Amino acid sequence: MKILVTGGAGFIGSNFIYYLLENRPEYETVCLDKLTYAGNLKTLDSALKSGKVTFVKGDIANRDFVDELFEKQRFDVVVNFAAESHVDRSIESPEVFLQTNIMGTASLLDASRKHGVKRYHQVSTDEVYGDLPLDAADSFFTEETPIHTSSPYSASKASADLLTLAYFRTYGLPVTVSRCSNNYGPYHFPEKLIPLIITRALNDENIPVYGQGLNVRDWLYVEDHCKAITMIIEKGRAGEVYNIGGHNEKTNIDVVKTVLSILGKPESLITYVKDRAGHDLRYAIDPAKISGELGWSPETKFDEGIKKTVKWYLENKTWWEDIINGDYKDYYEKMYSGR
Ligand code: NAD
Ligand code: DAU
Repeated sequence: MKILVTGGAGFIGSNFIYYLLENRPEYETVCLDKLTYAGNLKTLDSALKSGKVTFVKGDIANRDFVDELFEKQRFDVVVNFAAESHVDRSIESPEVFLQTNIMGTASLLDASRKHGVKRYHQVSTDEVYGDLPLDAADSFFTEETPIHTSSPYSASKASADLLTLAYFRTYGLPVTVSRCSNNYGPYHFPEKLIPLIITRALNDENIPVYGQGLNVRDWLYVEDHCKAITMIIEKGRAGEVYNIGGHNEKTNIDVVKTVLSILGKPESLITYVKDRAGHDLRYAIDPAKISGELGWSPETKFDEGIKKTVKWYLENKTWWEDIINGDYKDYYEKMYSGR
């Protein structure tokens, strides 16, 4: 089985490559990644040494390059993680989100069709459903929830989902789509909430909390996500959407306080800042379809996963210090100064 993992030098894609190495040693993996600010080849060091993973640098939206790669490699399965993934960046500069997330997906779909890929899997997000109210704790996203996006990021991801499903209906390309809630775990880029809290708290820097910190996210340990994707590509029905997540809802302020307490850092580091434009209130997944059909359910409770994650950041300081001491400084200044 030869599998193409796009975006495999990023957070979830790299965890997926390590998951396959551990659990599907018979798979041959090719990672295609443009190495944007979010991609990091050091993350894949030991995967590349295994001899079962090869790396190709390139842009999923470069059609000629993608076509040539598919012609040469003859992939059985394609899993598309490659994306611009940060909501705040999409509010500042939407264009690259349209280019990578929509045009890049279209280029992969065409190559998959032309070269007879047996399963194309699109990694999507619960953000395509918009948000749920804060005062209706028993409301959840199901696969039937209408698409109702809030940010340029989520609109670009929804466009890619619709295109993927259209290739099933129109051309019979065997596709699946998964829509997952917020992930956390190793190799998470420090622009996102949880690694931002950990890395800033360890440096005794203030923690910016948007609005009042009452927005709710449904946190999923990244390894649980990787297991779900593996089950979908192996056993999921073509043409179907599967939601991934499961009842680990927390307010942002609770997450911040939990991490500070694990690290033994004071709550005085918390700084409330101007809210994100269009900020989604609450995400919460109903995982009934994937658990009923494929037998998946999340194995890592938040209390356990967050401790493992903090431990990983403590033990892998060079990984994140190299990031926050580079271009990231300018990013942080631009996004947060005077906020
Ligand atoms: P990430 O930003 O950490 O990684 C994205 C990777 O894609 C990087 O390695 C980057 O270099 C690569 N990339 C970007 N543009 C590319 C291009 N044009 N061609 C090739 N490679 C390119 O993102 P992530 O958090 O790992 O998210 C992975 C996928 O999962 C995304 O599609 C995202 O929408 C989706 N998702 C993420 C979460 C989450 O909580 N992080 C939850 C649900 C869904
Ligand atoms: O739900 C899945 C989505 O989760 C993925 O599709 C996205 O790729 C991923 O980035 C994530 O989106 P969020 O916007 O939910 O994640 P983020 O870490 O940016 O923010 C989480 C919450 O924390 C959100 O309510 C905004 C808030 N926040 C975030 C940052 C970066 C803060 O309060 N302060 C911050 O500095």
